[in-house]
Amino acid sequence: MIMSENANIIITGATSGLGREMALQLAARGERVLACGRRIERLTELEATAGIKGQTLNLSSTADIDSFCAPFKTLSGVILNAGVTYADRFDAGDDETDTALIQTNVIANMQLIRALLPALKAGQGRILIVASLAGLTPVPYQSVYAGSKAFMINFGLSLREELKHDGVQVSVFAPGGIKTEMTDIPAMKALEKDLAPVADVARAAIKTYDKMPALYVPGKQNKLISLAGKLLPRHIIAAQAERIYRKARDGA
Ligand SMILES: NC(=O)c1ccc[n+]([C@@H]2O[C@H](COP(=O)([O-])OP(=O)(O)OC[C@H]3O[C@@H](n4cnc5c(N)ncnc54)[C@H](OP(=O)(O)O)[C@@H]3O)[C@@H](O)[C@H]2O)c1
Repeated sequence: MIMSENANIIITGATSGLGREMALQLAARGERVLACGRRIERLTELEATAGIKGQTLNLSSTADIDSFCAPFKTLSGVILNAGVTYADRFDAGDDETDTALIQTNVIANMQLIRALLPALKAGQGRILIVASLAGLTPVPYQSVYAGSKAFMINFGLSLREELKHDGVQVSVFAPGGIKTEMTDIPAMKALEKDLAPVADVARAAIKTYDKMPALYVPGKQNKLISLAGKLLPRHIIAAQAERIYRKARDGA
């Protein structure tokens, strides 16, 4: 569908939500973006309406990740944004769903980074990891998701120090709730008013991509939550969060 050499910045999960909005904003300022996702009709729409190139990429498939990465020789950036969650009790879930979540949110990102590193080194490129506030504070009823994002934060901050010697920068972006397809679920209905507009969060993410701080949490409220996560014992934050999310679920 596309000549991979023509792309400067790869964005995963660009068929909806934050990834799509970042693709649109980056393309609008003249960046050559390669939008990725499974839904080909969404990629086609991005190309038709905004001239953004797209390539299907299924992060559940190691073979797909390998063949996707192989052609890249030099890259200025990759934004690892794709992610999934489910909001329910852990014991209502199943191993298959949890394994798929960990594959998409964690393992696929590790595989992409390893396979794209030669091209990122050649391009002295940047890796922006889209994690979540849920990786900084515990989130009952999204326990597996919170664990996956905590992994990505520690992984990203560790990798940042390793790769600085190769001229590759790594930054972690940790937003709070955003109004996207991910939060368009009954369990989040009661918290809808607290969700940030996706365009604002995308602007903050791009600023993070431009400046590459170690870790950035956008929004005043989220910064306060993140600070509370540093000052208070985690179990206290977890208990408070459990009350909020249980009420939201019960009201759904
Ligand atoms: N929404 C929030 O409240 C919130 C808060 C903090 C952090 N985040 C993080 O922000 C990122 C974007 O989330 P969003 O809210 O924009 O979600 P979204 O609207 O649901 O978009 C998720 C994207 O990930 C892609 N994706 C999911 N599974 C995939 C797979 N197996 N292979 C390839 N692509 C896959 C989807 O594309 P296809 O379905 O087309 O494959 C889609 O483009 C995620 O990492 C999320 O954890 C979100």
